[in-house]
Amino acid sequence: MSTSKRRRIMVSSALPNANGSIHLGHLLEHVQTDIWVRFQRLAGNECIYVCADDAHGTATMLKAEQEGTTAEALIDGIRAEHERDFAGFLISHDNYYSTHSEENRHYSELIYERLREKGHIFTKEVEQLYDPEKRLFLADRYVKGTCPKCGAPDQYGDNCEACSATYDATDLVEPRSLLSGAVPVLKSSLHYFFDLPGCTDFLKTWTRSGTLQPEVANKLAEWLDGGLKPWDISRDGPYFGFRVPGTEDKYFYVWMDAPIGYMASFRNYCDREGLDFDDFWGPDSDCEVRHFIGKDIVNFHCLFWPAVLSGADFRTPTRVHTHGFVTVDGTKMSKSRGTFINASTYLEHLDPEYLRYYFAAKLSPNTDDIDINLDDFVQRVNSDLVGKIVNIASRCAGFLHRHFDSTLSASLHDEDLWNEVAAARDGLAERYEAGDTNRAVREIAALADRANQYIDSHAPWQMVKQPGQEAVVHGVCSLGINLFRALVVYLKPILPRLAEKSEAFLNVAPLTWDDAGTPLLGHRIEKFRPLLQRLDKKAVNRMVEASKEGEPPAAADSVEAPAAEHISIDDFTKIDLRVARIVAAREVDGADRLVRLTLDVGDHRREVFAGIRQAYDPERLVGRHAVVVANLAPRKMRFGTSEGMVLAAGPGGEDIFLLSPDDGAQPGMEVR
Ligand code: 2FM
Ligand code: ZN
Repeated sequence: MSTSKRRRIMVSSALPNANGSIHLGHLLEHVQTDIWVRFQRLAGNECIYVCADDAHGTATMLKAEQEGTTAEALIDGIRAEHERDFAGFLISHDNYYSTHSEENRHYSELIYERLREKGHIFTKEVEQLYDPEKRLFLADRYVKGTCPKCGAPDQYGDNCEACSATYDATDLVEPRSLLSGAVPVLKSSLHYFFDLPGCTDFLKTWTRSGTLQPEVANKLAEWLDGGLKPWDISRDGPYFGFRVPGTEDKYFYVWMDAPIGYMASFRNYCDREGLDFDDFWGPDSDCEVRHFIGKDIVNFHCLFWPAVLSGADFRTPTRVHTHGFVTVDGTKMSKSRGTFINASTYLEHLDPEYLRYYFAAKLSPNTDDIDINLDDFVQRVNSDLVGKIVNIASRCAGFLHRHFDSTLSASLHDEDLWNEVAAARDGLAERYEAGDTNRAVREIAALADRANQYIDSHAPWQMVKQPGQEAVVHGVCSLGINLFRALVVYLKPILPRLAEKSEAFLNVAPLTWDDAGTPLLGHRIEKFRPLLQRLDKKAVNRMVEASKEGEPPAAADSVEAPAAEHISIDDFTKIDLRVARIVAAREVDGADRLVRLTLDVGDHRREVFAGIRQAYDPERLVGRHAVVVANLAPRKMRFGTSEGMVLAAGPGGEDIFLLSPDDGAQPGMEVR
């Protein structure tokens, strides 16, 4: 395979939203992409992996407002967190950027202007629900009301969870804004549209040109045959994004500039590294451009994106690799079950390579969902990785160190076996290229079985006691180490850290794909140190426990939420409100918004977590009185159990005010 021309490839993973944390779903995609990228580099190709945070849109704007900060400050903080999490999972992005960048503004405007000049853009008045208090047009997820079909209350603006009906937000009965609680009004404004129907013929050809998996092309064919609708690419201000050129208050819809963020991140990389952007993105490019995405966003990547690119005279993607969703123990990830696991929580408990290996063992070229069965996860890691692969090295290294001066034999003890393992590399290269990593992992595990059987059959631990057998022991253990080395090459795209530790043990330069074809002879290795710990199910359980529930809502949430429904006086009297004295207050590692309070509530003390860190330094709190809900059921959180809730008011962020009883109040007093 090394005889073919060196390919030049740009690869991306979908851009994570800049208003939430990285979780298992993102990790599946980034691990899948990273394995593909690392394989290409190992095989000698030029493979540049870019990503960025998807920064724009209403959600970012509202979250910043809720946290009492600016959108820019919010996205900077989240980007740093995302980069740290991805680094923790050994994701080898060459550039991690933001869609809120000058490069992205440049390409968004350029693409828009080119589309406009070529007649792909038109405008139209659109009537939408508008929140007169917040002065915002309301996207479907910010409106709730009664389902127009079945009458179920409290349904979002696009579909009903009770009867599955889909409708327009304007059809909701008694709609209200989730942002202010106000009754929305209908309001009209001018929107900019991209003429997607005009691209139907181009897309019918493009989607069948080998760029997509067959099941994705089939899904798109349904939409293409059903008729495409023009794509609304503008939003009215206030909106966190780029202004549409030539307008005062229209902004590019976040999904318009998000994929352009791939180009922008790449451009930023090119400028830094001295690469020619047009080699990759120009209309005559002979480089590859590949996107890895989840199946929920194929319409954006396989219809809008190629249509926009071709309309603006850029090349279209070589391939879009689509994967399925992550489930845990057979069901959707769930916060209450503790299976909605964030990257940072995982890393507090487990080694990232366990998950990389498990995902690899499950990923295929199709779009089936990937289930993490937690028992199977533990079993596969321990039996395959530790029990089969690492075991080969640990079984052989000791004899070499003790009896042969840590030096491998000068010839191969079983050339056929070596050839069999070395010959697997072309087939395995094909598996990696096709994204068929589950098959690659199975084939590698079968080779590891062969290696272990070989060692078992020669039992060097017995032979070493028999006089005259030294050469055989030396040969068997040396071949064992060579087989281990070939397997490490094969696993290197999946397990880069294990590979690095193995390279140190083997005393070799970074391994390349071709190294699996040439044995190490007469070579001195280093002392063996454990390469990977066994995975303890208890650590998995702890991670799940730590993922249950989140932080308590900050006071800000109640301010932003719609007015609550009425409760009865009986409901109210159920709440046991007490005066508490704060006897200790400490910061909580890993939770910027939380303070851990020790409260004296009269006859005993208890621990409560409160989301007031940005408003109060812990030392300012000690000695204060506060009002506490004393009979709230204890809540298990990531950092401990919260035994109650202190009451506070205010819009959030730094403006949260603890409700304090007047002088004379004593801990334990009821609040009436
Ligand atoms: O679905 C999402 O999370 C989007 N932020 C993905 C964007 S991918 C690309 F288009 F930028
Ligand atoms: Zn309904």
